[in-house]
Amino acid sequence: MDQERLLRELSEFLRIPSVSTLPAHNQDCRAAAEWVAAELRRLGCRDVEFLGSDTHPVVSGKGPDVPGAPTLIIYGHYDVQPPDPLGEWTNPPFEPTIRDGKIYGRGTADDKGQVFCLLKAIAASPRPPINFRFLIEGEEEYGSQVLFDLLKREPQRVRADAVLVADMSYVAPAWPAVYTTLRGLCYAEITVRTSKTDLHSGEYGGAAPNAHEELCRLLTRLKGQDGKINIPGFYAPVKRPSKAELAAWKKLPFTEKDFLQKRVQGKALVGLKKYSVLERLWALPTFEIHGILGGFTGEGAKTVIPAEATAKVSMRLVPNQKLATVEKQLAAAVKRFAPKYVTATVRFLHGADPAQIKVDHPAFKLLGEAFKEVTGRASVPARAGGSIPVVPALASAGAPVILTGIGLPDDRLHAPNEKLDLKQLWDGIEVFRRFYELLGGAGRM
Ligand code: BES
Ligand code: MN
Ligand code: MN
Repeated sequence: MDQERLLRELSEFLRIPSVSTLPAHNQDCRAAAEWVAAELRRLGCRDVEFLGSDTHPVVSGKGPDVPGAPTLIIYGHYDVQPPDPLGEWTNPPFEPTIRDGKIYGRGTADDKGQVFCLLKAIAASPRPPINFRFLIEGEEEYGSQVLFDLLKREPQRVRADAVLVADMSYVAPAWPAVYTTLRGLCYAEITVRTSKTDLHSGEYGGAAPNAHEELCRLLTRLKGQDGKINIPGFYAPVKRPSKAELAAWKKLPFTEKDFLQKRVQGKALVGLKKYSVLERLWALPTFEIHGILGGFTGEGAKTVIPAEATAKVSMRLVPNQKLATVEKQLAAAVKRFAPKYVTATVRFLHGADPAQIKVDHPAFKLLGEAFKEVTGRASVPARAGGSIPVVPALASAGAPVILTGIGLPDDRLHAPNEKLDLKQLWDGIEVFRRFYELLGGAGRM
């Protein structure tokens, strides 16, 4: 492998600030799509197309035909999350930098570095061993609407022998994984209005309602200090993992102490104390506040009673919960918990159903073999706390969806100083190259 050339090419991809949630970056998302398309053409793909959107298209393509060999769909995303807070990056987020065997920058692990790996693994074979189909999208970080619509119109696009998604990490260094569940997501803005306009806090304070105060009270009713979410009906469909699964998690190289000290780097863990931390992260739903807007937040001091306050929140959902039901439950709970004298509204931004994947298809075994050959250990089943909205749709034609990844748990996805270890990158290219080869050898499945 010509590592220097590969790093130059990856850096080119990483330098494009393709932040899908910010309209100011629409042209950058388009540029990242062009980068992917050029790469597909270099792999000898035909029918390379931009589908569904001018600015955030799904890039699709077909590799050269390999008669009799299985068909593998490669899924990934070229969009990234916003890079803020900028001041906390050691190097600017879109100026990829190599330090201590790691490449730093937004998108290194999530997901550009991994898409790169999947594609370069194809280039690393003398000729493609299987039939490749590509669906590389540009708004995974904003709910995947374009790809959802495409798959609704053209469901045959997910017909294949398997779908490969590399958008996750190992469970621990030297412990590659395949994931059996992903959490879903329900993202919403809750707005509270208490009066027609802002009011002088001296003239009105003590008698007029305060939107921020009402919003805070509402939020703490929705989730208590004990970590329990008090939205009526919310936990009803949630099932505990089986005894066997819980026992298997105990064998993973994960300790709550290390998780707190090395990963969270805080002073204590929170949440439902009755359940292990892995169960809280992987098998229980959440309610998180992402940001609160409104009132006076500028420099200095302004004495005002804000008339309006908005919280951006999201809930992670676990298998058997349904996005559509949770939306109704949240709206009803907000209505019920807000006092009569405030106007409380909920606006849903995007979401995803949870995904559950059986890992007994022969393709999983072949991936395990590829990991074993390259890293010394086969992939182990685990669950994921994060979400990939389109996974249930990718599974809808019956092809097994292989959820895996080459990142490490400390890659700092969505946070400052996101990175990818170069060893993971080089190993990853080897693993996928070998996996494609083994699939090719296995014939149609
Ligand atoms: N790659 C992540 C999903 C992920 C992260 C899965 C860690 C497992 C472990 C993906 O890019 C992501 O961040 N998805 C968003 C989806 C949302 C914006 C709809 C997420 O989980 O927040
Ligand atoms: Mn991702
Ligand atoms: Mn992400």
